[in-house]
Amino acid sequence: MVRILMVCLGNICRSPLAEGLLKSKLDNSKYFVDSAGTGSWHIGNQPDKRSIAVANKHNLDISNQRGRQFSEVDFNNFDVIYAMDINNYETLNAMAKSDKDKEKIKLFLDVLFPGENIDVPDPYTGGIFLFEQVYGILDKATTELANQLNHA
Ligand code: 4NP
Repeated sequence: MVRILMVCLGNICRSPLAEGLLKSKLDNSKYFVDSAGTGSWHIGNQPDKRSIAVANKHNLDISNQRGRQFSEVDFNNFDVIYAMDINNYETLNAMAKSDKDKEKIKLFLDVLFPGENIDVPDPYTGGIFLFEQVYGILDKATTELANQLNHA
């Protein structure tokens, strides 16, 4: 089982969409996909209504997910940890206790644009249009990641 963790700040907007999309594109008997936030504000909460709505529009149900905060044990429990943006990438790196931990942390959009340091924009204070854009970016990136994993 390959274990993949998607991480954003609140675990209610971006990483729940990334989790739901990637799960829908992988063999769930071979891959375990989860998400978490570096912040603690939304522990136990459903994803943001706008993420749920945009996912529903594309026939993806993420309403059963609940927010949780990233913790140090996740370095042991996951093989790859994808940060949605550079801020979260840096937060995760600061929490890492070893080179082995650090090697697991990747900037998610490197899957589409290697080495270009591109963020998945934080849509929290934006409108539904930004959630649609985020969905589109995550759809492309999860398709590319699923293709890479299936041909690895
Ligand atoms: P996310 O978006 O990191 O994509 O889940 C955010 C959600 C909540 C907050 C910030 C970003 N917040 O400050 O509560």
